[in-house]
Amino acid sequence: MFKKIIFFLTFSIVFCNNISANDGYNLWLQYRFIENASLREEYLKALEKLSPSGNSETINIALKELDKGLSSMLGSEFSSTSTNNNGNTLIFGAKANLPEDVILQLGNAFNEINEEGYVIRSYSLKGKNHIVITGNSDIGVLYGVYNFLKLLQTNKSIEKLNIIDSPKIKVRILNHWDNLDRTVERGYAGFSIWDWHRLPDYLDPRYTDYARANASVGINGTVLNNVNANALILTPQYLEKVEALANVFRPYGIKVYLTARFSAPIEIGGLKTADPLDADVIKWWKEKTTEIYKRIPDFGGFVVKANSEGQPGPQDYNRNHVDGANMLADALAPFNGIIMWRAFVYSEHDTTDRAKQAYPEFVPYDGQFKDNVIIQVKNGAIDFQPREPFHPMFGAMPKTPIMMEFQITQEYLGFSTHSVFLPTMYEETLQSDTYRKGKGSIVAKDLDGTLHNKRLTGMAGVSNIGNDINWTGNPMLQANWYGYGRLAWDPYLSAESIADEWLRLTFSNNKNFIEPVKEMMLNSREAVVNYMTPLGLHHIMDTGHHYGPGPWVSNLSRPEWNPVYYHKADSLGIGFDRTPTGSNATEQYAPEVAKVYNDLKSISEKDLLWFHHVTWDYKLKNGKTLWDGMALKYQEGVDQVASMIKTWNQMESYVDTERYNNIKMLLNIQYKEAKWWRDACLLYFQQYSKRPLPEGVEKPSQTLEYFQSLKFPFAPGN
Ligand code: GCU
Repeated sequence: MFKKIIFFLTFSIVFCNNISANDGYNLWLQYRFIENASLREEYLKALEKLSPSGNSETINIALKELDKGLSSMLGSEFSSTSTNNNGNTLIFGAKANLPEDVILQLGNAFNEINEEGYVIRSYSLKGKNHIVITGNSDIGVLYGVYNFLKLLQTNKSIEKLNIIDSPKIKVRILNHWDNLDRTVERGYAGFSIWDWHRLPDYLDPRYTDYARANASVGINGTVLNNVNANALILTPQYLEKVEALANVFRPYGIKVYLTARFSAPIEIGGLKTADPLDADVIKWWKEKTTEIYKRIPDFGGFVVKANSEGQPGPQDYNRNHVDGANMLADALAPFNGIIMWRAFVYSEHDTTDRAKQAYPEFVPYDGQFKDNVIIQVKNGAIDFQPREPFHPMFGAMPKTPIMMEFQITQEYLGFSTHSVFLPTMYEETLQSDTYRKGKGSIVAKDLDGTLHNKRLTGMAGVSNIGNDINWTGNPMLQANWYGYGRLAWDPYLSAESIADEWLRLTFSNNKNFIEPVKEMMLNSREAVVNYMTPLGLHHIMDTGHHYGPGPWVSNLSRPEWNPVYYHKADSLGIGFDRTPTGSNATEQYAPEVAKVYNDLKSISEKDLLWFHHVTWDYKLKNGKTLWDGMALKYQEGVDQVASMIKTWNQMESYVDTERYNNIKMLLNIQYKEAKWWRDACLLYFQQYSKRPLPEGVEKPSQTLEYFQSLKFPFAPGN
């Protein structure tokens, strides 16, 4: 009997756990076995032979990926080494390496794609049905291969393929806010994946897996270090390590970029100044750049955070952003490198509305930046809040390349504990109409260059990756890395299609799973807005670490760091007046947009308190007073999380135990924290509104003093 029990236990541990264990490390590249036998048969029949053309490292990676993916999805009947010359064949390679008879099948498809684009096409020859995956470059082929594998993963037919696709944006990068000591600023998934101490000799296999994951969604660059930069990264000791990473990433089409600390010539160069017009400074950067390119011939360039939040910059020498950016741009130009100069600037000495401060520092200088400078603008004018109206700089600089900076890491959206699907938020910004060239001048068009005919285009995402086994600290948040990559490739994609595709790749093709979980994801962003900052509220989180609510904070040295600066609650009402009667930030938008924002009748209530200070009894469109409506929004957010939990609890049979439990536990934390936000904010604002909570809003579980007393000295990411 005892032996039997032991056997049973061993059996369960060895087998059952293996079946159910999935730590999420493989992201959306799960390559699950295809259970549907007839579909598997169709795939096997079409893939009797693999035929690579070309022998670069990139093509070898494509072959390895096909081997891995197809073996795993099709099982032992599939052979990647079949020599069956009479079989249906999958041919893949760049145009330059394809046999003539295959090129003939492709007509002028090569003219329809750019350098990184791909074509996947079926054709018949001598009674056989073949598929070709090709492009103008090997990296285009690799992108095609990942997309081909995606067709199988999502159980699509591969019988009559004719897919032509190219990235619409050139620079598609992740920004790592990683420090050299491996802490990650605003990182909630462990420590930095860059093991600087053991580099360059120890190459963690994670580096390859990282490159692979990025290539699979079309990300083609990475900024390795924090925007609050340490000049040491530019010393030979570190450049050697950067070079080692660049070598790993190169065959995956990923370029390495670094942040450049503006005062580096002083800190590591021994100069007395970092004045961008000083001859020695200019020389120093030229030599530094040459040194970098000697090691990394395809180095991408620099990101610079200058004169922002205490960082050094050209204004320290009475120069402007143009002087600073152009000096560095000159150093990089001979090597085709670029400067991503950040527009996230505001000053403690400037008392104007923080939302207005970047615009005058850049827009009047349109056309004065060198060709290889691109201005990196956050999606909104404050700082990655759960909801922000689009930044007024989009569309406003017709002669200057402008790139988007989205935050993937959830500094203000519940860290990695809250399951928030961000592509919904990205889509909202990308689809916003700037009206800069009339109706239809959406942000996406400024980014892909079509609005103003720009050549250099880009999108950056502040990474949510750390050394947690599942990369993002929460398996659901892998969708944000994935979704960001997809939108950088094509900013016109819908969040809905991204959620659908990601769920299929990551978990299951079963529609009983897809439909409810997709809905849960698509509503998750509105939920977080509701329980944190409904109706246009913003920047009311706790200080420093930004964990949890802190609308009461008013004692910070810089006025614009205090939540009270943003919500302006008083006995009469709440909200920041940014119309002409207030800060007039709306004047920075095109007149059509400003008009909508200025007018209480036309503004969307989602942005109400961002632009208006309204009374507690202001009537909302649903007839409720502002106070009642706001309280009910907070409650709605909490209820939405409760319903997310309900949905997830029904998904147990579709998901492996490990990820199922992982997500379940995190959703329960999110629920607790949503209630915390609701109770703390409502109790605080109630001091001013002096009105009771409307029916339907739960009573707070604690006092305001209790919430105000909470301290989190070791909150992550700080
Ligand atoms: C936010 C964030 C900082 C970051 C800054 C930036 O203010 O809290 O940690 O450095 O954005 O984007 O530069």
